[in-house]
Amino acid sequence: MDYEDWLKRKSLEYRNDILYFAEVNTIEIAEKFGTPIYVINEQMIRKKYKKLKKMLDSAYKKNRIYFAIKSNSNLSILKILNSEGSYYDCSSTGEIYTCFKAGIAPDRIIYTGNMFTDADFEFAVKNDVLVNLDSISQLKRLVKAYDKLGKEKGIVSFRINPEFGAGHHVHTITAGKELKFGILDNQVIEAYSKAIDEGGFKKFGIHQHIGSGIINPYDFEKAAEKFLSIIKNLTSTLNIDLEFIDFGGGLGIPYRPEEEPLDLKTYKEVVITKFKDLVGEGNVGTPYLIIEPGRYITAEASIILTQINTIKNNGHKLFAGVNTGFNTLIRPTMYGSYHHIILCNKNLRERSLKYDVTGPICESGDILGKNRELPELVEGDYLAILDAGAYGFTMSSVYNSRPRPAEILLNDGLTYKIRKEETYDDLLTHQFIPDHLM
Ligand SMILES: Cc1ncc(COP(=O)(O)O)c(C=O)c1O
Repeated sequence: MDYEDWLKRKSLEYRNDILYFAEVNTIEIAEKFGTPIYVINEQMIRKKYKKLKKMLDSAYKKNRIYFAIKSNSNLSILKILNSEGSYYDCSSTGEIYTCFKAGIAPDRIIYTGNMFTDADFEFAVKNDVLVNLDSISQLKRLVKAYDKLGKEKGIVSFRINPEFGAGHHVHTITAGKELKFGILDNQVIEAYSKAIDEGGFKKFGIHQHIGSGIINPYDFEKAAEKFLSIIKNLTSTLNIDLEFIDFGGGLGIPYRPEEEPLDLKTYKEVVITKFKDLVGEGNVGTPYLIIEPGRYITAEASIILTQINTIKNNGHKLFAGVNTGFNTLIRPTMYGSYHHIILCNKNLRERSLKYDVTGPICESGDILGKNRELPELVEGDYLAILDAGAYGFTMSSVYNSRPRPAEILLNDGLTYKIRKEETYDDLLTHQFIPDHLM
């Protein structure tokens, strides 16, 4: 794909050498709100959600998208997706609490945690939130929560580990015998038998999530086939119907200019069509088809604007030192991930040079982009770090006592602050000094 088109797909374009994001001048945003700052494009979130929904609707009408809020849990993002009709996948009690604060009803949430505590189960059961169990041993504790609260049993679901995982990094692959997630095929019948016989459940769902950041749609194929064969065996052996079949998330985005977007047509072929074939055989009931995308919806919707404060030439290498690092975007440091970085003001640059774009954190791993060819940079320039909307803010930290930046939402050319920048006092607000140290 042509580079300008690749940028345009992310709502980025240069007008008179100034970078615009969602039709707004990035330098004006940087100067009005300060940097570093997360800038989020509302229409991109809507567009990506609609694109997925259209694909699902074209294949199988009874479907639901559960947005994985771990990718971006800002209340305004949850509200935007709520207005699109989204459902929500939560991985912790805190994420469910956040959904409630955004006005999301419990019946639109699925709780796919792992290593649940009793308190997690009680919170879910008390609030009528559906749980995806991650081990057989958890069943007893879930039932205990129902009994303790005197609640009628809802749907029970287990996360299956189909053993064929994929993902952009070994830490984001979540299927495989050696990995902690879900139950393997040899435990599936036992799990659901116990749910019926010991748990007294009468309604069932089933789930898998094989990994995150998958850009090749064929990487979903083997897992989908295995998952569907497990389901076929389960429903015929125990003679049960399923309320839903959940294929998880994992749909990737093109972080690099040479990458093409995930081909949804092929995803549909290798996952949804096979699901439809199984439903067509008539032994699983008429389940909802569920997917749980996070990154696909939010990653390209946000950039981080940062300012260069130091250009350093150590005689061997050029460094462009900026005012944010792995405190606001840990993916490059944690996974070696690539985030494209561009200059907001290309005026009057006669040549380009290679830089390591580095943050201010006291670790040599604080590199946002290595060996990046950029127009010659000067101190004071603004840079945009792309695709920071998924696992950017939600994985941020205050390491080195750096308060988190604000988040700005762009819509129809207008800017809205949707999260205030933290202050130094915010960093200290939960600390107490015992009397003997006063
Ligand atoms: C259970 C589950 N569902 C969905 C997701 C979302 O993944 P992604 O953002 O890659 O779509 C994750 C990510 O870790 C997950 O663990």
